[in-house]
Amino acid sequence: AQERTLSIIKPDAVAKDAIGDIISRFEKGGLSVVAARMMRLTREQAEGFYAEHRERPFFNDLVGFMTSGPVVVQVLEGDNAIAKNRELMGATNPKEAAAGTIRADFASSIDANAVHGSDAPESAEREIHYFFGDAEICARG
Ligand code: CMP
Repeated sequence: AQERTLSIIKPDAVAKDAIGDIISRFEKGGLSVVAARMMRLTREQAEGFYAEHRERPFFNDLVGFMTSGPVVVQVLEGDNAIAKNRELMGATNPKEAAAGTIRADFASSIDANAVHGSDAPESAEREIHYFFGDAEICARG
């Protein structure tokens, strides 16, 4: 089924000028960009986005990293978009990411892991609307 998912190109990948290569992976993988914005997250925005991880030991490092430089937030649309995006990204820890995935090719550590993608329909819905209003999402086809 057609789905939407929230993708973030993280500060490490932006700093490497890998935005184009990463978006190209999405497009070649059957996902279309239907909304996009480059921005620098505030501490409050990063903490709110990752609220479910607030009690985790890595939370402060995660927020620090995600606010260390600009990111590109996007809504990706396509058949089975949530799972497809996760397949294209590879495992959260780049050391465990399969060859040819975005994280295997662009990530250097579990924090600087190049991309974020929603993990389920409920989180996709929340994450998409955390950054985008309905009027900012462009219907395709
Ligand atoms: P992301 O998909 O953005 O969601 C939460 C992020 O926390 C994750 O990617 C990692 O970059 C980061 N992180 C750091 N340590 C861990 C860990 N032990 N388990 C899961 N995520 C971690």
